[in-house]
Amino acid sequence: MLQTLDRLSPDAILGLMASFRADPFSQKVDLGVGVYRDERGATPVLEAVRRAEQLVLESETTKSYVAAPGREEYNQAVEELVLGNAHPARRAGRVRTVQAPGGCGALRVGAELIRAAAPTATVHVSDPTWANHIPLLGSSGLKLERYPYYAASAHQLRFEAMLERLEGARAGDVVLVHASCHNPCGADLSSDQWRALTELLSRRRLVPFLDLAYQGFGVDLESDAAGVRWVSEHVPEALIAVSSSKNMGLYRERLGALIVVAEDSARAEAAYSHVLQIARSIYSMPPDHGAAIAARIFADPALRLTWLEELALMQQRLAGMRTLLASELRAATAGPTFDFIAAQRGMFSMLGVSPEAVRMLRERHHIYMMLDSRINVAGITPANVGYVARAIAAESGR
Ligand code: LMR
Repeated sequence: MLQTLDRLSPDAILGLMASFRADPFSQKVDLGVGVYRDERGATPVLEAVRRAEQLVLESETTKSYVAAPGREEYNQAVEELVLGNAHPARRAGRVRTVQAPGGCGALRVGAELIRAAAPTATVHVSDPTWANHIPLLGSSGLKLERYPYYAASAHQLRFEAMLERLEGARAGDVVLVHASCHNPCGADLSSDQWRALTELLSRRRLVPFLDLAYQGFGVDLESDAAGVRWVSEHVPEALIAVSSSKNMGLYRERLGALIVVAEDSARAEAAYSHVLQIARSIYSMPPDHGAAIAARIFADPALRLTWLEELALMQQRLAGMRTLLASELRAATAGPTFDFIAAQRGMFSMLGVSPEAVRMLRERHHIYMMLDSRINVAGITPANVGYVARAIAAESGR
């Protein structure tokens, strides 16, 4: 049987991670995989996580199964973090949340839910989008199409083109939207644009599937969820995939959630039963350790405060490195080409340079980024920013 399988090339992001690890050059710079790093290039365990984990270990009495929806205290806390405590859909009992194995798990379960409810629906994804969106959603068998979102070479959103394309979508189609800190381009919708998009979704009866993987990394927890809140208050149905990998630094614990907003509470209950069955048929139950830690942090005011402070520091470092990189690039290129980096948000931006320049940056300078020129801003430090800026200037011909 297995002789029918040809060897596949590695996943673009994970493959880049492996190439970087294998490079022995001491000055190498990793701007690849989307993992937060501090000024020394480390991804430390957050202090709030370390303390909560200790409490979890001390109080844990069993390793028996939790349940298909995961840990309820986590689900409720995340739902509140994302939608706020006054969201009308929550008050009307129209929302259900289940824990999932990371944001990826939430996206996949969401895709299976769409397939169960509307097998012929097309899911419209942004161009560009996160490299794993297509495999995660496409492997459920759903049809995918791309809508224009961002022109990397012009460093600009293509909002009018996006709306024009979505006007042509069929009623009942699904639109995947990056909630904030767009991956890979770092260009987010303004509040006016969220309003215009919501008007279109509602008028054309399209269902938003919102991917919220970086809440707190753009501006703060509230602002980064503002688009999600607005949309989900003004349309009858929405799906929201949430990740706790980045804002709690729990990457390898695989923690996330799928939030389902339905037209009324009976439909929410029915959708919930499908979500549980889908989870059971893929992985049965989500892992508990990360959820136990997160639930502790959410419930304990002192731990929560520590976490909020740590999250704010991560956000500030990202914003600071954006400003620094843009100014070093301005000096290295003697021009404003890369000023846009300072105005964008979150972990990623696309330099807008050619794949050839990206290859040269890797081969000659040991600077690793995705072939579409996506950089992880958290890979920039005060120690490497000059080196990186001069290399980009040299290889981009600026
Ligand atoms: C990324 O985009 O690099 C991160 O979200 C990590 C991943 O799983 O791809």
